Amino acid sequence: VTVLFADLAGWTARAETLDPEDARALVDRCWQRVGEIVDGYGGTIVSIEGDGMMAAFGAPVSHEDDPERAVRCALEMQHCATEQPEDFGRLAMRIGVNTGEVMFASVGGRQTLIGDTTNTGARLESSAPLGAVLVGEETYLATRHAVRYEAVDPLRLKGKERTVAAWIAVEVTAAAGHRPLSELTIVGRDAELGALRTSWERVVDERRPHLVTLIGPPGIGKTKLAREFVTSLQTDGARTAWGRSLPYGERAGYGAFGQLVKDVTGIYETDDGAVASSKLATRFEELVPGSPEELVTALGVLVGLETATGDIDKRTLFGSARAFVEGLGSHGPTVLVFEDLQWADASLLELVEWMAARVQDVPVLFLTLARPELLEVRQSWGGGLASYSAVPLGPLSATEVQVFASRLLAGTEDAEPIIEHLVRAAAGNPLFVEELAGWMSEPDRDPDRPMPTTVSAIIAARLDALPAKLRRVLLDASVIGETFWRGSLNAPDLGPAELDDALDALEAREIVRRERHSRIQDDEEYSFKHVLIREVAYNTVPKAARRERHRDAAIYLERASSGAATAVLAHHWREAGDHDRAVTYLVRTGDQAARGWAKSEAFELYGQAIALLDPDDERYADIRRRRAVARTMAMHAVLDAPTLRRRTAPR
Ligand SMILES: Nc1ncnc2c1ncn2[C@@H]1O[C@H](COP(=O)(O)OP(=O)(O)O)[C@@H](O)[C@H]1O
Ligand SMILES: [Mg+2]
Repeated sequence: VTVLFADLAGWTARAETLDPEDARALVDRCWQRVGEIVDGYGGTIVSIEGDGMMAAFGAPVSHEDDPERAVRCALEMQHCATEQPEDFGRLAMRIGVNTGEVMFASVGGRQTLIGDTTNTGARLESSAPLGAVLVGEETYLATRHAVRYEAVDPLRLKGKERTVAAWIAVEVTAAAGHRPLSELTIVGRDAELGALRTSWERVVDERRPHLVTLIGPPGIGKTKLAREFVTSLQTDGARTAWGRSLPYGERAGYGAFGQLVKDVTGIYETDDGAVASSKLATRFEELVPGSPEELVTALGVLVGLETATGDIDKRTLFGSARAFVEGLGSHGPTVLVFEDLQWADASLLELVEWMAARVQDVPVLFLTLARPELLEVRQSWGGGLASYSAVPLGPLSATEVQVFASRLLAGTEDAEPIIEHLVRAAAGNPLFVEELAGWMSEPDRDPDRPMPTTVSAIIAARLDALPAKLRRVLLDASVIGETFWRGSLNAPDLGPAELDDALDALEAREIVRRERHSRIQDDEEYSFKHVLIREVAYNTVPKAARRERHRDAAIYLERASSGAATAVLAHHWREAGDHDRAVTYLVRTGDQAARGWAKSEAFELYGQAIALLDPDDERYADIRRRRAVARTMAMHAVLDAPTLRRRTAPR
């Protein structure tokens, strides 16, 4: 929940000069204006006391962008106070905005919000310069992609031991509502949501971790269900963090966990080693005060920061992840989402199971999403954990498809036969339904093309029907990866405005989505709505063009990512045909993996490097030696690892 405190400065002095009736009329008018603005941003006024006001964003109804709504609202309030000073009695306002957990409580017979978040919010407000909006750290982290801030010295607040970091919001920099807020509501899935809620209640009541895996084929709605569930929890103040595995070895080692840690700690891919390490250390100290430096260093190795040196034993390494997660959980119920686990490396799977078994006395739900293939590569997944459940996602029923399709096609002429076709052809797959509806609404679609019958075929048809410019931008983007950045699109014949228009148009068609957080500072990050769309688009790019695009991507990322993204770079250089550079990055990624005890990954990565090398190459012998060491260690690690699964225990 994000809270907003506003206060009319100099009110008491003013009120003394007015008769009581005029004074009341003045505050009434002022808070009336403010109320309209708060309403417009979906916030709620919680209380008004004379010259002060508190509003909440995210309770009782939560939106994923509540912090941003609150800051936009605050800036508009200040704007309004300057533009229409008579509505505010020509008084200046101070505003403080803060994000975190709050509790609802009944105070003096009225419902209100209490807790540290609100206390700090109120103090931020009283420390704000006249006419300014001062925000706390969580608000800042959640909105810095959309708002320009000026740093101020940390505040020493009365009654708090530690200083509080604060920023002044200067102006909004991103267009509002760039991301469609009106996503269609979820269809069906009541039973699955029920199962998730039951697990969650147990986690919270018993303060014990639980591992849940949603399993189903691509497009069936795993991500949608997870989002729906997580959003419903945020209303109760649960914390969530999200990490995702990618195909094609775009992330190495504990990739998705690393991403999750970076999100929580506010580390950008563009941060250099020292900056990233210091962010990690600060956040770790907040979560787990007084923890030994060794743990912070180990977590740095685990998430792939290149600053750590020397060998770290595996227990310390995994222990650092556990301490971090326990730190998160000790501040309140937490959900950690691991998406697309079928692409995770063995090391990440091991880490997730290990944490789910070892994390203690904190309410943490590990929510993992995977295609059924996961169980082929890892038959024992979750087996033997004291609390594990699998939630399979099957096709939507014919009635549900009908409901969904009718909503999507509302306003389309002759929708009936299409809906009928969908119910028969889509096999209950919502992605199929959406893409077919999208295809039907493209004006340039080939009307003689027969109705496609597989999800990939429907996506291909949809891409074929796109206007040429959009299609080109999309194909270019597909080479960069699941996520791409505006600056990484090499569109020499499109002006910047045209490129923006193309991206907007793709977003309006819900083919790509602009991310709220960019991992590359000062560039906009986008991702494909679904991996299958990316995959089909990529397969459409002619082979010769691919090489060149991969090269462009590698050059962009080399420049942007301060050397951290080695796995991605290895991938792009290899696909660009530059084996020499690919080997360099493969070895570097392999070394990183080896240092972080992802020994089997290291073995695999060195193997890929060897496959690209000429036996006469001077590096050949050395890499073979490293591979041999990694293999020995991999076998060793299995023997040496703490006994994770009580394999003999009954399920
Ligand atoms: N139950 C549902 N109701 C409405 N839309 C859904 C539902 N399930 C999935 N979708 C939509 O279908 C598309 C594919 O779903 P997604 O969750 O990405 O699939 P998965 O993660 O299983 O591959 C998404 O655009 C999603 O919004
Ligand atoms: Mg998904």
